[in-house]
Amino acid sequence: MSGWLQGYVALITGGGTGIGRAVAERYLAEGASVTIVGRDVGQLEQVVAGCPDPSRMHAVAADVRDSEQLHHAVAETVSRFGKLDTLVANAGVWDYQRPLTRLNAKELGETFDEVFSINVKGYFLAAEAAWRELVETRGSIVMTLSNASFYVNGGGPVYTASKHACLGLMRELAYELAPKVRVNGVACGGMNTDLRGPESLSMQERSISASFAKRRADAPPPPLPLHDSSTDPKDFTGPYVLLASREQSGPMTGEAISIDGGIGVRGFANAAGGDHL
Ligand SMILES: NC(=O)c1ccc[n+]([C@@H]2O[C@H](COP(=O)([O-])OP(=O)(O)OC[C@H]3O[C@@H](n4cnc5c(N)ncnc54)[C@H](O)[C@@H]3O)[C@@H](O)[C@H]2O)c1
Repeated sequence: MSGWLQGYVALITGGGTGIGRAVAERYLAEGASVTIVGRDVGQLEQVVAGCPDPSRMHAVAADVRDSEQLHHAVAETVSRFGKLDTLVANAGVWDYQRPLTRLNAKELGETFDEVFSINVKGYFLAAEAAWRELVETRGSIVMTLSNASFYVNGGGPVYTASKHACLGLMRELAYELAPKVRVNGVACGGMNTDLRGPESLSMQERSISASFAKRRADAPPPPLPLHDSSTDPKDFTGPYVLLASREQSGPMTGEAISIDGGIGVRGFANAAGGDHL
C-alpha cells in the first residue's frame, strides 16, 4: 500500500460523523492509523467496525470540553499506535444563523458559553493535550475552520465569532509551537453533514443535512463561482491530507486553505463569470 500518510498516526475530534469521519477514512486510505474521538462511543465503534482495516482505527469517547478526557484520548492513541503525528481539531456545533436580534440576553449568554466551549475551548484543550506528543514526532495540528472564519453570514454572530477565534488560535499556535510543530487550518464551505445546533437553543437534534434535503431541485444555485461543486464531505478531505504530510507541506505553517466554492472570488453582477462556457 502507498499513500501520503504511510505510517502516520492521527487523532481526530468529532471523527465519527461528517468531515471528521471523511478525513478519518481518507487518512486510513493514505496509510495512517487513526483515533476517532466523540461523545457517542457506540456510534464511533460502528464507524471502526465498518472501516476497511479496523486494526488501524480506534474509537475513544471524550467530550472536547473535558481536558482529562482529551488527555486520556491522546494517551490511548500513543499506547495503541506508539506515537501521535497529527491532531485534527474538528468537533463543533453551528448556531443555525440565529441573529443577535433574535436572542434574548439569557439565550445569548448560554449560546455563547456552549458554542465557544465546544468550538473554541475544545480546540484549545485538544491542542494542550496533544502538543507534547507532537513535539516528539515533529508533527502538526490541522484545525477545521470555516468560511465563517473569514466572511459574514455563514452563521450567526456567535458561530462566526467562534470560527474567527479559531483562525486566531491557529495562527498564534503556529507561532508558539514552531519550529517543531506546524499548525494550519482548512476553511470548509457548506458540506452536507450532520452538523447540529446548540442545546441551549434546543437545537441539538437539528441537523444541517435537513437543510440540504429541503433544497428544491429547481432552486437557484448557491451564489458561488463553483455553484455546481460537491457538498459531500469526502470531496473536502484533500487539504487535510496535504497539511498533515511533512513531505508535501513541511515548510507550511500558520495558513488556512479555503475550500468553499470560491467565496473570495464572487462577482458582483453574476457569482460566476463563466456560466456561458
Ligand atoms: N457542515 C458545514 O457546512 C461546515 C462548514 C464549515 C465548517 N464546518 C465545521 O466542520 C466541523 C465538523 O462539523 P460537521 O459539519 O462535520 O458536522 P458533524 O456534526 O457531522 O460533526 C461534528 C462532530 O463533532 C462532535 N461533537 C460536537 N460536540 C462535541 C463535544 N462537546 N465533544 C465531542 N464531540 C463533539 C459531533 O458529535 C460530531 O461527530 C465543525 O467544526 C464545523 O463548524 C462545517
